[in-house]
Amino acid sequence: TQATAPEIRPLIRAIHDYPKPGIVFRDITPLLSDDQGFQQTIDHLAERYAQQGITKIVGIEARGFIFATALAYAMGIGFVPLRKPGKLPSTTLQKRYQLEYGEDALEIHADALTQHDKVVIVDDLLATGGTVLAGVELVSDLAAQLHECAFIITLNELPGVERLRDAAIPYYTLCEF
Ligand code: PRP
Ligand code: HPA
Repeated sequence: TQATAPEIRPLIRAIHDYPKPGIVFRDITPLLSDDQGFQQTIDHLAERYAQQGITKIVGIEARGFIFATALAYAMGIGFVPLRKPGKLPSTTLQKRYQLEYGEDALEIHADALTQHDKVVIVDDLLATGGTVLAGVELVSDLAAQLHECAFIITLNELPGVERLRDAAIPYYTLCEF
C-alpha cells in the first residue's frame, strides 16, 4: 500500500503580483529549505515509484531538476535532463511549445533514452501543460515508455490538468491549488 503524501501545502508560499500584477506565484523555496519537507517529498515519490521497473528519472530545467535529481539519487537510478535550447552538447531532439507570450523549446539528447527505458517525468509545477507535453513528446520520440508525470504542484485553474487528462497521460501531484 502507498503511504499517504506528506502535507507540503504550508511549505508552498504565495507571492502576489509576481511576475506580473494579478498573478499568484506558488513559490517552492520554503519547501526546499525545510529539512523534513524536502526529504519527505522525495522519500514519498521514491516509494511511489519503487518496484515499478522505472529505469530513468527525466527532469525539466530548471526547477524540475531539483526534485528529479534528488529522486533519481534516492531511487538509485539515472537522471536525464530536458533542457532549454542550446544547452545540451551532443545531438538533440527538440520540441517547441507555446508560452503565454511567444514560444520556447525543450531538448533531449538523442541517445539519452531507448525503447528499453521506462521513465517518470518530474517537474515542480503544472500550469498550462505546454512544458510537460513537450517533454512527453520527446520521451515518446525516443520510444521510451512513460510511466507517469510527477509534479509537486498543479494549478488546477489552468489548462494543464485537463490537457493531460484529454491526452490520457497519467500524472501525480502532491499539492493542488
Ligand atoms: C515553470 C515551471 C514548469 C513550467 C510550467 O518553468 O517550473 O517547468 O513553468 O508551466 P506550463 O505548464 O505552463 O508549461 P519556467 O519555464 O518558468 O522555467 P524555470 O524552471 O527555469 O524557472
Ligand atoms: N508558480 C511557479 N511557477 C509557475 C507558476 C506559479 O504560479 N506559473 C507558471 N509557472
